[in-house]
Amino acid sequence: MTDALLTETRDETTAAWWRQAAVYQIYPRSFADANGDGLGDIPGIVSRADYLRDLGIDAVWLSPFYPSALADGGYDVADYRNVDPRLGTLEDFDEMVAALHDRGIRVVVDIVPNHSSDLHEWFQEALAAGRGSAARERYIFREGSGPDGSEPPTDWTAAFGGSAWERVDDGQWFLHSFAPEQPDLNWDHPEVREDFLKTLRFWSDRGVDGFRIDVAHMLTKDLTEPLPSTAELELLPHDGNHPLHDRDDVHEVYAEWRRVFDEYDPPRTAVAEAWVSTPERRAKYASAEGLGQAFNFDLLVADFDATQFRTIITDNLAQSQATGSSTTWVLSNHDVTRHATRYGLPQLGGRTGAKQGVEWVAAGGPEDQLDRERGLRRAHAATLLLLGLPGSTYLYQGEELGLQEVAEISAEQRQDPAFFRGAVFDGLGRDGCRVPLPWTASGPSFGFGSGEAHLPQPDWFAESAVDVEAADPSSTLSLYREALRLRRELQTDETLEWIETGRPDVLRFARPNGWQIVTNFGTEPFDLGTDAADVVLGSVSGGAVPADSTVWIAPGLIG
Ligand code: GLC
Repeated sequence: MTDALLTETRDETTAAWWRQAAVYQIYPRSFADANGDGLGDIPGIVSRADYLRDLGIDAVWLSPFYPSALADGGYDVADYRNVDPRLGTLEDFDEMVAALHDRGIRVVVDIVPNHSSDLHEWFQEALAAGRGSAARERYIFREGSGPDGSEPPTDWTAAFGGSAWERVDDGQWFLHSFAPEQPDLNWDHPEVREDFLKTLRFWSDRGVDGFRIDVAHMLTKDLTEPLPSTAELELLPHDGNHPLHDRDDVHEVYAEWRRVFDEYDPPRTAVAEAWVSTPERRAKYASAEGLGQAFNFDLLVADFDATQFRTIITDNLAQSQATGSSTTWVLSNHDVTRHATRYGLPQLGGRTGAKQGVEWVAAGGPEDQLDRERGLRRAHAATLLLLGLPGSTYLYQGEELGLQEVAEISAEQRQDPAFFRGAVFDGLGRDGCRVPLPWTASGPSFGFGSGEAHLPQPDWFAESAVDVEAADPSSTLSLYREALRLRRELQTDETLEWIETGRPDVLRFARPNGWQIVTNFGTEPFDLGTDAADVVLGSVSGGAVPADSTVWIAPGLIG
């Protein structure tokens, strides 16, 4: 083989790394705290690089680590091209990228383009410059309604509750789709567009491999006067022309970003967080001319139910085949109740998983509604199923320890703006899945850092500490490590074939290379017959797949 051919082959594999990657989400402020100030930091991540390598993931995605007043856990970015001084420096960031790359782990960072922090220099400038100024054009300022303009321009509500408009000292109002500390940027403004291209290049030049795009479906807006009311908005179809959500013209932004990604070798990747109405609308974000991949949250909002899983899997694989992207699977992230807890709650029937977790947290986490053991068993089963599917899987820090949602956080200790602003969509807010990780069963903050963690850790975290689980071959951590190791053999072609089981509550599929995955969602054991001998992962006793479990069957062995 000539050198040229070798390079070509290598590049192709490298460029496609994201298609079937296991990506581990780090919420930096809650991962590991190297300087003992109670907040996780970048040197903390470096100190745990070997842990990440041993886990066997392909990439990490870092939630925002930029300078921020933490009005929304860092999703209020004051400076897109820097590191929060409490989390480290740009040099620390470079060191982290090198440490992860040395271990074969790629790095994805979060980009938050819909809104900045109110502390961003642009917004400060807009406030100082006053109404009618060029500086205000970078955001969405309007006059109020009512005779003296003292009412908000419209009755729109923000995602975290309350009005979507906030009044400034001179009487004008600005739009914030989330917290008031997160003013929406004006994506019709050329400087806004230019600045994000600069940010993408800034991090790409520092060796970042890809980007996760926050609320990717909300950037562009049609704010032609008169602005519609909430009732009028609700009547409008989500067909690409809705004034506020999932507009077709947002893809012009991403086409421009794609040209930047393709300036690099290998091209930088991106995944859209796009809460849109249909898989067809989602596919637009995942197109090769756009971001390339989009989160699929369908399983995250589903019950632990064979029929729902099968339909969702089939539909999404068909969709990704049609678009040329690869599917993504997610059960937990920093915005939802952990899946080990959701699955321990009564399943409500329908696409309700996330909602039901929220209700449990909002009710103060009553133990009589929750069967933690069952939740964890089902979480293992669902995760093993996901890791056996074609496409990429996004894992959230702490799920590899089987962590449950933490409900016992007092109102004074809570940080999520959704809690303070009374948003209905997540009840008591999202702090319960953002509690700093337990690394050791004893010691200050369970080994998270030398000081007190920024959110309270419950006593039961000791049982799930990394040092305890690493020493226990039957722990969740050992299961994840083994699954992620075997997954490298299993992930080849991006297809699967369903095998009928004769049981509506048992799913079984084969990958083209012969690996098989069987998940029993029911209450009765499923008999594997002679195939039981070829099970390489999962719990099989007496030749049967027990209730709430998944097994992996290796190829070649099947007789
Ligand atoms: C996304 C993030 C969430 C954040 C919101 C506003 O949904 O995942 O954490 O609060 O965007 O940036």
